[in-house]
Amino acid sequence: MSTRYAVILAAGKGTRMKSKLYKVLHQVCGKPMIRHVVDEIGQARFSKVFVIVGHGAEDVRSCVRNDADCILQKEQLGTAHAVLQASEQLGGLDGTTIVLYGDTPLITHETVEKLIDFQEKEHAAAAVLTARLEDPAGYGRIIRSATGSLEKIVEDKDATDEEKKVKEINTGIYSFNNRLLFKLLSKVGNNNAQGEYYLPDVIGLLVKASEKVLAYPTERFEETVGVNDRVQLAAAEKYMRMRINRKHMEQGVTLIDPETTYLSAECSIGGDTIIYPGTVIKGDTNIGSGCVIGPHTEITNCTIGSDTQIDQSVLEDSWIGDDVQIGPFAHIRPLSRIHNQAKIGNFVEVKKSEVGERSKASHLTYLGDATLGADVNMGCGTITVNYDGKNKFATIIGDGAFIGCNANLVAPVTIGTGAFVAAGSTITESVNADALAIARSRQTNKENYALKLNYRTNN
Ligand code: UD1
Ligand code: CA
Repeated sequence: MSTRYAVILAAGKGTRMKSKLYKVLHQVCGKPMIRHVVDEIGQARFSKVFVIVGHGAEDVRSCVRNDADCILQKEQLGTAHAVLQASEQLGGLDGTTIVLYGDTPLITHETVEKLIDFQEKEHAAAAVLTARLEDPAGYGRIIRSATGSLEKIVEDKDATDEEKKVKEINTGIYSFNNRLLFKLLSKVGNNNAQGEYYLPDVIGLLVKASEKVLAYPTERFEETVGVNDRVQLAAAEKYMRMRINRKHMEQGVTLIDPETTYLSAECSIGGDTIIYPGTVIKGDTNIGSGCVIGPHTEITNCTIGSDTQIDQSVLEDSWIGDDVQIGPFAHIRPLSRIHNQAKIGNFVEVKKSEVGERSKASHLTYLGDATLGADVNMGCGTITVNYDGKNKFATIIGDGAFIGCNANLVAPVTIGTGAFVAAGSTITESVNADALAIARSRQTNKENYALKLNYRTNN
């Protein structure tokens, strides 16, 4: 096997996206397109991977991190010009160079490796991955000679009516003999409809130089979709979603309706977890086994244990233990930790709070900056009053404490272990362990007074 290099082009602005965000940073299933390509390439054996950056260079660089070497293309004069920027690093080296575009997020390393193996086995100067599309509009067309051999690639904008009818397209993924690639790159001109230096022209030049150049049609044409606008972005998203969903199903996760289940590219889910429709799992979320999630649930960057149930709720940047029940209609905000067997019920909001094992806030509660021990019971309508308009204050509640319905705990305040707060109390002072706190005015009943109010209607 020869030494293998990869060059990923990602310098274009992506005018057709009509966006402030540079094209390759647009996300597919929650991951920037360029990261999809870099991650896939990372799974193949390349000695060096280069990314050509230009528009948004700094943002693209930080997205690529240390997983490839970035090379700046100051002016974007075309895809051939982009590859030429790597001549200092690659020009004159023996080996094979794969070139692909950062706006092709669905490509897999298997397909890329097949292409290289094919080119090397055939001892070809280059091999182009091609696909047959019902609607080839926008893509470069593969022009073959009368005998069927590859002759050249013609861009959509330069194609004659006859050439436009060709359904075999250039996917933009090529495997080159590295020396020949750099030898011919500098010979590419820009006398075409867009006044750009086209990388596909290298193919025609190699053919003219009597080098062996082959087309390698892929069966998996869906992988090669290039994203130039939002319509193609949505198509890529849909395809990637089904790929991710299939992977999880194959690994033992039940998706009641894969069509309406949105799982991020990075998330992990344990076996026998069941996901109901309308569930969106975002970012770096890890879910254990045997959970029931959804319907209509949004989870972002959370770690969730096993056997936990989350129904119609929103969770962000939090840690949830095993056998926890959340929802329906709960909101778990960042930096919360909900321990094993706890229960967060309907219309409960938890913010930056810790809820101990088996503790319950079953209905209509707000927990902000609170730390609850184990076996705490938060009655219906309880509120930790954590904000005075300027600062946030903490509430600490000991193991086994019982907070009656509609109590306000005005922070900073500590409720001791096993303490009992009477319903309707507004607690402004800490309560010792095992004490009872009542903070409300006594009730007065005035007999027959209601008759005097004469509020009843005359029926
Ligand atoms: C390109 C191919 C076309 C192919 C299609 C497949 C050329 C001229 N055409 O067309 O044959 O069918 O991809 O999707 O290559 N880029 C740079 N620097 C530049 C110009 C572009 O880095 O100066 C990058 C872009 O960021 C993008 C990629 O190269 O990631 C492709 O450029 P784009 O303008 O999208 O080419 P297409 O018109 O799609
Ligand atoms: Ca493109």
